Amino acid sequence: MASNLIKTSSLVLAALVALTVQVFYFSPIDPVILEIPSAASSTSSTKNNQLQNVIKLGEGFLKQPEDVCVDKDGILYTATRDGWIKRMVRNGNWENWKHIDSSSLLGITTSKDGGLIVCDATKGLLKVTEEEGFSVILSQVNGSQLMFADDVIEASDGNIYFSVPSTKFGMHNWYLDVLEARSHGQLLRYNPLSNETVIVLDHLAFANGVALSKDEDYLLVCETWKFRCLKYWLKGINKGKTEIFIENLPAGPDNINLAPDGSFWIALIQITSEKTGFVHTSKVFKHLIALFPRLFNLISSATKSAMVVKVDIEGNIIKKFGDDNGKIIDFVTSAIEFEDHLYLGSIKCDFVGKFPLQSA
Ligand SMILES: *[C@@H]1O[C@H](CO)[C@@H](O)[C@H](O)[C@H]1NC(C)=O
Ligand SMILES: *[C@@H]1O[C@H](CO)[C@@H](O)[C@H](O)[C@H]1NC(C)=O
Repeated sequence: MASNLIKTSSLVLAALVALTVQVFYFSPIDPVILEIPSAASSTSSTKNNQLQNVIKLGEGFLKQPEDVCVDKDGILYTATRDGWIKRMVRNGNWENWKHIDSSSLLGITTSKDGGLIVCDATKGLLKVTEEEGFSVILSQVNGSQLMFADDVIEASDGNIYFSVPSTKFGMHNWYLDVLEARSHGQLLRYNPLSNETVIVLDHLAFANGVALSKDEDYLLVCETWKFRCLKYWLKGINKGKTEIFIENLPAGPDNINLAPDGSFWIALIQITSEKTGFVHTSKVFKHLIALFPRLFNLISSATKSAMVVKVDIEGNIIKKFGDDNGKIIDFVTSAIEFEDHLYLGSIKCDFVGKFPLQSA
């Protein structure tokens, strides 16, 4: 009996050692502990579920519409996971506009000379026009394929600013970047006249949404897992300087868009909660989850919620709308205001949410 017990326990011990070695040796990440600010760790409840009042546009027709934009004629565009740029014309009808063989379209923006600029996490920056369809604007940076372009904005001087959340992990492994919690993100500028790309900001914590201020005197970029947005000055005495625009957000900022009154709408995504916060506090958990992505899916599906905030130019939250349990709309990744409504994109939904602001 005793010897059997010893045999069994040494077997268990050997298995544990083997597992530990395996977990550390094969782990794709080199993690540090993620600091979660108080606003995000306490409770990220918005105390209201007003986003449950959204009208679902294009339901079933739109596969994971991550980002939305509206052109000067009031036509609403979104890029979907099946490679379509779909659009809703003024009478409310949706149509398939342009298609590209891609499952990695992300941020989109209107271009001043017509058409859209689209981020493709595998192909780079693309231009889409009525006449020409898709064409590649930028596919290489320093001789390497531009991977994981995430969000983009065009300034009136023609410069194109865009984010790369992680130079280490790709779009489909984005959660590894969060688990590793080292800053691999960049904000870049592409000048179409000189055909040059430069790094504007480096070592960002998952550089995500990018927006220009109303006067284009500064640029904002979201750092998702640092729960903050940075301000980079483009003009004036502070030109070239960086400061914190807003920090300690109640969840991770995804896309950001200028509102008509000069403030900003930020979509916040739930990357931690009371239930799942432990994941970010232990390197062992991080390694385990990094090796077994299904665990990550399990943990992330345990938290459903949607939240958007409106932030004034001083960096104060002035409005907050949510769907705390993601009952009607979950994981909102973008919010754009147009004609007294918010239009909401989400990578977990099959519709764009339309939310009336006047009654809210
Ligand atoms: C722009 O630069 C890239 C390399 O960075 C090069 O491959 C491409 O041909 C250039 N395009 C033009 C129009 O000069
Ligand atoms: C290109 O590489 C040079 C040399 O390593 C570096 O200084 C520069 O920042 C890089 N540019 C971009 C856009 O990555």
